[in-house]
Amino acid sequence: MTAKKVKRIGILTGGGDCPGLNAVIRGVTKPALDNGLTVLGILDGFEGLVEGKAIELYNKDVSGILATGGTILGSSNKGDPFHWPEEVDGKIKIIDRSKDALKNYEAWNLDAVIAIGGDGTMHISKKLIDMGMNIVGVPKTIDNDLEATDLTFGHDSAVYVVTEALDRLHTTASSHHRVMVIEVMGRYAGWIALNGGLAGGADVILIPEIPFEWERVYDKVLMRNMMGKKFSIVCVAEGARPKGEDIITKGKDLKRTDPIQLGGIGEYVAKKISENTGLETRYTVLGHLQRGGSPTPFDRILSTKFGTFAIQLAIKKQFGKMVALKGNEIKSVWIEDAISRQKLVKPNDQAVLAASAVGVSFGTEKL
Ligand code: F6P
Repeated sequence: MTAKKVKRIGILTGGGDCPGLNAVIRGVTKPALDNGLTVLGILDGFEGLVEGKAIELYNKDVSGILATGGTILGSSNKGDPFHWPEEVDGKIKIIDRSKDALKNYEAWNLDAVIAIGGDGTMHISKKLIDMGMNIVGVPKTIDNDLEATDLTFGHDSAVYVVTEALDRLHTTASSHHRVMVIEVMGRYAGWIALNGGLAGGADVILIPEIPFEWERVYDKVLMRNMMGKKFSIVCVAEGARPKGEDIITKGKDLKRTDPIQLGGIGEYVAKKISENTGLETRYTVLGHLQRGGSPTPFDRILSTKFGTFAIQLAIKKQFGKMVALKGNEIKSVWIEDAISRQKLVKPNDQAVLAASAVGVSFGTEKL
């Protein structure tokens, strides 16, 4: 660590966007400027660091963005400097451009970078730290799958969207006596389906951590029908899978560090229920609606706390750290510890137990 004072910081948003990114950018930039620092907004995540795309950020740029979705800096999940996709003769070739990232960091005279992102962003950050860059991480993702923090911002907003969608599906499901299947995001973690399903009163919640049995799902919707509840709501995570079957994917994008694109389980579940129960069934894929729009009040508050804490860490030269929510407090953890474990739903999580206690089926229980 050098004796030099931190005077200039860069800030970037990496990976898939989510509500609350702008609130973090504001939370970092305002106090940084007030403390006499200059702030460089790096565009399109690590892509901007590699390609030298950045803009100076002033108060006017971050004023009025607390409630806006997306990110004023742009983001990308294809800009990994260590896994840079280049098209040669119509084919994708992966090359290492981390030296370009370091070159720009030095050319811009940065003392540190605040990297706002999920698992992928933190992995890249760790490798750039090893090359000599000073980085402070801020965890975002609607998936909420980072073990080191109790919550990531963006998750609450996604759960809100799922809840509203389920409320709307309830009324039309009830009118038409249908089974409604909704597919939600979350990658290999079931947090969005679990929390959204619980808040939206789903009758069946299917998550990756609890592989389900078809017969149990059929039994649940048929039983509801027999008991006079002529509709059912099934909330399925994109990474959920039946016992003994593989996860369903809709494609591969080789430009991304994780090329797998999940999706399709909602349609599959709806088809199976319809064929095997005779009940009229429809499905909805909520998709990127879960990532767009304004952050909830909870996410605005969390993002502002994360941003303002992160800039303090940078000023104090606590590099290599990531901000994290622990209980009700914002703390810091080492980025390398933060990326070592994925946070998955445990079968005895209180939300799972609470859902079971009010009659929700996870597609495993005998009725
Ligand atoms: O990680 C956030 C997330 O929205 C996942 O829930 C989803 O699987 C993925 O990103 C979708 O990525 P893309 O925007 O590249 O389709």
